[in-house]
Amino acid sequence: MTMSSKSPDVLYLNRSDIVTLGGEHSHIYVDAVGDALAAHACGDYVQPLKPYLRRPGADHIADRIIAMPAYLGGEPAIAGVKWIGSRHDNPLQRGLERASGLIILNDPQTNYPIAIMEAGLISGMRTAAVTAVAARHLAKKGFAHLVCIGCGPIARMQLTTMLEQFPSIDRIHVFDRNPDAAEYLIEDVAAHFPKINYRIETDAESAIGMAEVLVTCTVADQPYISFDWLPKGAFISNVSIMDLHKEVFLKADKVVVDDWEQCNREKKIIHQLVTEGSFSRARLYAELGEIVIGAKPGRESDDEIILLNPMGMAIEDIACARHFYHLAQARGVGTQLPLYG
Ligand SMILES: NC(=O)c1ccc[n+]([C@@H]2O[C@H](COP(=O)([O-])OP(=O)(O)OC[C@H]3O[C@@H](n4cnc5c(N)ncnc54)[C@H](O)[C@@H]3O)[C@@H](O)[C@H]2O)c1
Repeated sequence: MTMSSKSPDVLYLNRSDIVTLGGEHSHIYVDAVGDALAAHACGDYVQPLKPYLRRPGADHIADRIIAMPAYLGGEPAIAGVKWIGSRHDNPLQRGLERASGLIILNDPQTNYPIAIMEAGLISGMRTAAVTAVAARHLAKKGFAHLVCIGCGPIARMQLTTMLEQFPSIDRIHVFDRNPDAAEYLIEDVAAHFPKINYRIETDAESAIGMAEVLVTCTVADQPYISFDWLPKGAFISNVSIMDLHKEVFLKADKVVVDDWEQCNREKKIIHQLVTEGSFSRARLYAELGEIVIGAKPGRESDDEIILLNPMGMAIEDIACARHFYHLAQARGVGTQLPLYG
């Protein structure tokens, strides 16, 4: 039965469309993530807790599909969902990236879907943008040494974003338990940023000892980073969430999260600490958006050890996707798909 003669269009953007629109560079994401974090601090969003879909018997932390819906205010307001799958053995068993997914955008006037786009690139780049926005407020001014543990695609996006955003970086130390991954990463990043001094370390502790800024990008499910490995003044972006021992959360000068409710669940380290009674919302220094809008100070001395626990928020993905949607419309990039055929 035909109910309407008009078929709405849905704009499809594949990864190469997003690259055409500048999606391999950090500035778009840094701006969009900054807006999303400010909206978070001002309450101009709706973001239900994300469900983790795991198949029966899945026992690896990185084997899951996550649905991440959000409404985000601003000009224009937007709604949408990121649907992102992950299998830890995709890279080595199948030669595929670990994570894959789609973002669907909805027009909040009609609630109709208006765009579908590849999510892996946007998701990885917005995660790197969170580190960069946080580092502006939480890292030592003029920091020069960046350390990355885990050397997959997320690490590559973290490094390239940080190098684009912070010209003060002159040395990068990396460690991966798979030395080939470390070599591949450095070859790739050095091709774009040849003037940096790159070092592949043979263990995590030696790498971390050099950190002014440390980013974790592993798929570790057990902590291995002790508090006394961290130099004074370090800023840690705990992207892979499970790498730090509980004591780091208890001894750091400031613990910052993106969203307390999203962090205090799913048996992640903060949730474990809260369940044991040793951490609480009252002990949290801030949510990152509060620092971004200036409601709370960021770093206050060169000695502070500051930990950011960024679980990842749907509003960050939707803010970036909104940007690419409007850019694509303006430039005629992408494929229009008729919703009804
Ligand atoms: N917080 C967020 O918003 C967010 C967003 C996207 C991805 N992530 C996380 O980023 C992480 C990395 O993603 P990816 O796609 O690059 O994964 P990947 O599997 O492609 O790469 C991970 C790399 O880490 C290495 N590794 C694993 N455990 C290690 C350990 N204990 N010590 C040293 N190296 C180790 C592996 O050898 C591999 O090279 C994942 O944990 C993912 O969940 C977080």
